[in-house]
Amino acid sequence: MHLKPLFLTTLVLVLFLGCGNSDTPQDQTSSQDLNIPITIENRAFTSTHFSGSDNCAACHNGITDTHGEDVSIESAWSATMMANSAKDPLWKAKVVSEIKRNPHLEDVINDKCSKCHAPMANHEARSAQEEIKIFDDGFLNSTNPHYDETMNGVSCTLCHQVKEVAELGTLAGFSGNYSIGSDRIVYGQYNNVATQPMIGQVNYTPQFGAHISQSKMCATCHNLKTPYVNADGIVLSDTPESEFPEQMPYSEWEHSEFATTQSCQDCHMQRAEGVIISNRPTWLNTQRGNFAKHTFVGGNALMLDILNNNKTSLGVPSTTDFSKTLSKTTEILESAADIHIANNGMIENTLYIDVTISSNTGHKLPTSFPSRRAFVHFILYDTNGNILFESGKSNNDGSISGADADTNIHSYEPHYNIITSQDQVQIYEAVMHNSDNQVTYTLLRAASYVKDNRILPRGFDKATAPSDIAVQGEARNDVNFVGGSDTISYNIDTTNFTSTPARVEVALRYQTLSYPFAQDLFSEETNESMSFEGMYDASQMKTSTITSQALEL
Ligand code: HEC
Ligand code: HEC
Ligand code: HEC
Ligand code: HEC
Ligand code: HEC
Repeated sequence: MHLKPLFLTTLVLVLFLGCGNSDTPQDQTSSQDLNIPITIENRAFTSTHFSGSDNCAACHNGITDTHGEDVSIESAWSATMMANSAKDPLWKAKVVSEIKRNPHLEDVINDKCSKCHAPMANHEARSAQEEIKIFDDGFLNSTNPHYDETMNGVSCTLCHQVKEVAELGTLAGFSGNYSIGSDRIVYGQYNNVATQPMIGQVNYTPQFGAHISQSKMCATCHNLKTPYVNADGIVLSDTPESEFPEQMPYSEWEHSEFATTQSCQDCHMQRAEGVIISNRPTWLNTQRGNFAKHTFVGGNALMLDILNNNKTSLGVPSTTDFSKTLSKTTEILESAADIHIANNGMIENTLYIDVTISSNTGHKLPTSFPSRRAFVHFILYDTNGNILFESGKSNNDGSISGADADTNIHSYEPHYNIITSQDQVQIYEAVMHNSDNQVTYTLLRAASYVKDNRILPRGFDKATAPSDIAVQGEARNDVNFVGGSDTISYNIDTTNFTSTPARVEVALRYQTLSYPFAQDLFSEETNESMSFEGMYDASQMKTSTITSQALEL
């Protein structure tokens, strides 16, 4: 029996050497190192269906609203996560990791992962029946014919050419299944637009399209289901319905009160009035109302900070100004929720404090990519400002004290209704399970959620929620975990306190990349994961504060 492993190793070695050197896993996934500059794409490219963002900037930058505020469209867009979706070092590292963990599915992964992050390249390559490949000589190689389309990210002519088809806003239209026309019509929110300038300059015809202002337009990329495999790499999900719901903000929104009051665009594209939307031709004088700013901020301060600090090595033009996007990210996060603290007094030696988190967000909080987490940092002080009790302290490396997953990534912190000790932390998150009921961070192994206690939007009835967006784990039975809010009771035993509790401080904090998710990725030690790890370690934006509140007892 002892010979078996040795025999297997020899066999593997023989097979490995027999293949020659060009196909080793290292070669398949290597691309750039930290500090090696990446070629900035030609943003004035034209392809069969698309046109680079600089071709639009010529007329749609240099515009202002009635207050004289600059509302230039390309400048705003270029500093968003969508404009940088293929430069994103976390995305690159994760794609490499997914390929490494399931190499036999390389083609599926290359297609899937470029569909929304490099949509123009994916669409052109598919239309021309060319290979869809991200690394090596693929899309991210500056000699690849689709390099410019790739690096221009989710760009103007992608969104504005999405067609109003029956599938839009349905399962068949989710997961990047947008349909792009060949008629060169660019849809917008206004009627009666001057069409000649664009026809002459960029050969697109601007036209009113009601769907551009509707949430279902965003849903084509923002509702995402993924196939999943078992430990042997065999695909288990056989229908689109049975795939894993990786990101479902559209369905979450649909099941909330916001479905009838505010669209994705209403919250993610702030409004301006009195804008002449093109700086050319000079005779154009129609001032437009309800102008939608292309700021598209969410919660991702971490990656905006990383893009800002590593422009050269990520291929971001030095002129891109992330400062506005970063401050707007802080603003939208601060608007996401409120905290209410109630002192229910001391009974015998136990102090009873209730903390209620109310959400103002149009979907779950946090939503979308499963590396996100929000958590409650609760501190009880005495009269001299000494800490008597603390739950949910975050550290400089991004870990949370007391969070089970942060010491063992195969475990997770349960949802709490009552917290009685300092090593219990309320973490709002989605924890993925593979088909063997183990915690996983591999997207293609994720079969279900063992915990999903992300704070529900107002109007979300957990009893009637479809399975793709259902609450999972202990929060299902927590009676005060309801649409719009959650209440946690901190029941603190004061028997051993040597001073008097005087003040409570509570903060709701947010992380784009949870510590265990990061540790799992860093353990890969590929060029992409190591390069990203360096950038992550250097960032001061690992943890954001959504809101905080204090109460004197
Ligand atoms: C249907 C569209 C779609 C597809 C397909 C898709 N993604 Fe994404 N991805 C998104 C969106 C939208 C976000 C941003 C969500 C958010 O901010 O929470 C995102 C975010 C991410 C992030 C986090 C980036 C960050 O800066 O925090 C990673 C990593 C990622 N995707 C990896 C992948 C991988 C790997 C694949 C292929 C298996 C893939 N994506 C396929 C739409 C998609
Ligand atoms: C993620 C998708 C998306 C991208 C990328 C995008 N737009 Fe838009 N754009 C929209 C939506 C949605 C609206 C209308 C919003 C509404 O009606 O609520 C809009 C509106 C507009 C308008 C009408 C004026 C206004 O802002 O309301 C113009 C002009 C425009 N976009 C040009 C551009 C240009 C130029 C780029 C690239 C620099 C771009 N868009 C990138 C989605 C996008
Ligand atoms: C030569 C200048 C020029 C260029 C270049 C240009 N546009 Fe326009 N665009 C205009 C004008 C003019 C209008 C109409 C303004 C009006 O009537 O208020 C317009 C309108 C639009 C609208 C709004 C349509 C509506 O119904 O609301 C969109 C969207 C748009 N352009 C996108 C783009 C995109 C994408 C590009 C790059 C491929 C681009 N434009 C390039 C001048 C230009
Ligand atoms: C009522 C306002 C509101 C509406 C409506 C809304 N959102 Fe959001 N959204 C927010 C707030 C606040 C945040 C920041 C907190 C968070 O990350 O959940 C956010 C964050 C996000 C993020 C970033 C998550 C991350 O990981 O950083 C994405 C993606 C997103 N929203 C997509 C959508 C889509 C798609 C829709 C429409 C189906 C939508 N939102 C509707 C308020 C809204
Ligand atoms: C072609 C696919 C596509 C479409 C269409 C699309 N998105 Fe995105 N969106 C993405 C991808 C990919 C990301 C993630 C980029 C990353 O993090 O690397 C993203 C990220 C975002 C974020 C997160 C930003 C942050 O800083 O956290 C917001 C907000 C957002 N999109 C809003 C919208 C809205 C609103 C619409 C509809 C008007 C829309 N998106 C349409 C693909 C798309």
